[in-house]
Amino acid sequence: MSAQVTYTSSTGEQVTYEGAAGESVMQIAMHHGLRGIIAECGGSMSCSTCHVFVDEDDLELLPPVSELEDEMLDTTAVDREPNSRLSCQLVLADGCWIHVTTPESQM
Ligand code: FES
Repeated sequence: MSAQVTYTSSTGEQVTYEGAAGESVMQIAMHHGLRGIIAECGGSMSCSTCHVFVDEDDLELLPPVSELEDEMLDTTAVDREPNSRLSCQLVLADGCWIHVTTPESQM
């Protein structure tokens, strides 16, 4: 039961980490000390410092945007794009491999 996430920074550096199915893109980043995602609220959807841009091809693999996530995406440090998500809401299914880019700033 595993999932993978490839994180690309705003300057183009790439790392791929493995996590467990059921973990979020934010949790996997935290476990590996990834800079680029802060996740100040720990996943309770009240900070928007876990903002990521999801590769277009991977959007359909993820749970839909909730109303609250949509509201919080209006408060990100770097302006949202159509492929913006809060990484704490991106819970991964078994075998999933997601590619995200972190914004230049989270605060
Ligand atoms: S960790 Fe705070 S909104 Fe995602």
